[in-house]
Amino acid sequence: MNLAVIGAGYVGLVTATVFAKFGNKVWLVDIDEKKIKDLKKGKIPFYEPGLERLIKKNTAKLFFTTNYKEAIPQTEIIFICVGTPNRNGEVELKYFFSAARSIAKNLKKPAIVVIKSTVPPGINKQIEKIMKKYTKVKFDLASCPEFLREGKALEDTLNPYRVIIGIKRKSVADKLLKLHQKISGKRLVCDTASAQLIKYASNAYLPTKISFANSISVLCDKFGADVNKVMEGMGMDGRIGPDFLSAGLGYGGSCFPKDVAALIRLAKKADYNFEILKAIQKANQVQIDYFLKKIVRLCGGSIRNKKIVVLGLAFKPETSDMREARSIYVIKGLKRRGAKVCACDPVAISEAKKILSGVRFFADPYQALKGAEALLLVTEWKDYRQLDFKKIKRLMKSPVVVDGRNIYNRKRLEKLGFIYEGIGR
Ligand code: UGA
Repeated sequence: MNLAVIGAGYVGLVTATVFAKFGNKVWLVDIDEKKIKDLKKGKIPFYEPGLERLIKKNTAKLFFTTNYKEAIPQTEIIFICVGTPNRNGEVELKYFFSAARSIAKNLKKPAIVVIKSTVPPGINKQIEKIMKKYTKVKFDLASCPEFLREGKALEDTLNPYRVIIGIKRKSVADKLLKLHQKISGKRLVCDTASAQLIKYASNAYLPTKISFANSISVLCDKFGADVNKVMEGMGMDGRIGPDFLSAGLGYGGSCFPKDVAALIRLAKKADYNFEILKAIQKANQVQIDYFLKKIVRLCGGSIRNKKIVVLGLAFKPETSDMREARSIYVIKGLKRRGAKVCACDPVAISEAKKILSGVRFFADPYQALKGAEALLLVTEWKDYRQLDFKKIKRLMKSPVVVDGRNIYNRKRLEKLGFIYEGIGR
């Protein structure tokens, strides 16, 4: 099939590459000239395991352009994958509407326009109206929300839990089901508003699990229980499930914080006060204060002028993405309390430098830890799971380890002479 994908962010680039892998001819359109120039040279704008290689393998079927005229006229299915960021709590739809207008202006034959961007449920009528202003050509609107995780984008796209197909006409569903046939996972065909709400509801429910685990972690500290064990035990119940119950510093990234905020706002506009979600949001921020209080206590009541080393800056491992990373809030809190902050990350340092000032960055954790008075594990990169703690013990001035992701073995660290605390263990 001839396809076009609008937006060369995570979702767009991965979608385009995967459909090209399955033999389709795919145009990827983005208005960012530098991005397209780089992509033509095989350079991808972010770190995502395996993606660069898969793009290179499929260059014969993948075409990059800034020009809608080049891509749209010959395509049967067009995916809109542009960002819908949060602006003062509102879903910012200007990029989305602009993409819809540009598609409409360049339609030459009937096509299916599939919305992959996260958009407010029920928005299709508005989009249809906008597009019809610019074209007389027939088009169908469909909604196939995206559920990929950064760092696991290819795996999640090739083997998702489910493929949601929101449509108005059965023939459109048939065509989209055919396009997705090489992708595994369950299928759900529904109306477009439901498809759009499935995305928001999922991105609000997973943070609910995380914030719940985090709230229980505080109780674990108080009752002398181990939150990892508590969550393991809870997760054994098939009705609860083991995923997204890792307690720690809470959720970040470009999706959960944005979509939780957006759903609260959308609900308010629909005259519903979504109180549970407000509490989820609050619990996520409170967890940072809880962590900072622990650090200050373990450092003897003050961290003023003390060298504190933060391990991990990206919002989670296997990505260079710093959006809403917990490290930002931790580092700001440390600096407010007068600490001298050093920070390490295997891939996110250049991104972090754009956001954080007054921090010394190190690629090598051992270099950073010389003379440090506390080691804080903030993002659980594999590199930081396998540290040589014997060596670290010799390097640090004071052997305090505060484990924001509960990955280290307490007994082992205490045996080596560290003062160790996780969150809820
Ligand atoms: C999330 C969803 O998982 C995807 O399904 C969705 O497609 C995507 O948002 C999106 O809307 O585009 P992502 O933001 O890449 O994916 O990251 P996750 O792996 O879900 O992690 C989000 C945050 O939750 C991270 O900061 C992570 O550290 C935190 N987390 C995750 C926990 O604190 N505990 C857990 O048990 C799991």
